[in-house]
Amino acid sequence: MAAPRELPEFRTTLTPGEVARIRQWHERAYQAAKEESARPRSYDYLGLRLVVPCEVQPITGVSHLLGETVLREVHAGELVLDMGTGCGVNALLAAGQGAQVVAVDVSPLAVAATRANARRNHLGRAVDTRESDVFSAVPERFDLIIFDPPFRWFQPRDLLEVATSDHNYRSLTKFFLEVGSHLTPSGRLLVFFGSSGDLGYLRWLAGSAGFREEVVARAELTRGDQLVEYLTLRLTRARPTL
Ligand SMILES: C[S@@+](CC[C@H](N)C(=O)[O-])C[C@H]1O[C@@H](n2cnc3c(N)ncnc32)[C@H](O)[C@@H]1O
Repeated sequence: MAAPRELPEFRTTLTPGEVARIRQWHERAYQAAKEESARPRSYDYLGLRLVVPCEVQPITGVSHLLGETVLREVHAGELVLDMGTGCGVNALLAAGQGAQVVAVDVSPLAVAATRANARRNHLGRAVDTRESDVFSAVPERFDLIIFDPPFRWFQPRDLLEVATSDHNYRSLTKFFLEVGSHLTPSGRLLVFFGSSGDLGYLRWLAGSAGFREEVVARAELTRGDQLVEYLTLRLTRARPTL
């Protein structure tokens, strides 16, 4: 058996000033999210009825940049993985298009929320939910993998913050190291990310893993005193594999 490859160490592509601004902004956003997530929230979103319990990532003003792309990208009969599924939103959109979906999250609260939302939307049979740290409980290969990862790289303090911060991008780095062996030969990825994270590092990881990117949805929003760019990237293999 091949020895497991070592995770490369995260080195930021941002300037110290950009890091300080993101850290400050993250702290404000975390405190606001903590207050908001003290109670379950519910949403009518792209034809789904979703309940999001405490400490699970809510639907946000930019969720549609990924959600609408999922609706366009998924074909009936495909096998789709939703990595870091949260309340299951993108898994359910894919299932609604006729895909068979595996939805995973490291948070047991997110996995329970996804299961409940799948039943609520009569999609329980199309969505297999699992607790998994990146690919730890996922042996399969997929036609499409969807990932809306935590944007920041600070040490999370609780499960709510695990949704927005991945210490030193351990999970994101592991994802790109392993994702190639979980795709079919023509498999593709949809990855959502923003410049309130280290977008340069994400692009470096994707390029190093042999993917070429296409920006398929984009928005710019003012967050506090910052202009933040949000992108949905469609990633395909730069070179076809046999
Ligand atoms: C930004 S949220 C996205 C949630 C949902 N996909 C959405 O679009 O609303 C990131 C999700 O990734 C999950 N996550 C973080 N680290 C993970 C890991 N190592 N393995 C699997 N899921 C992880 C978090 O629990 C969280 O639900």
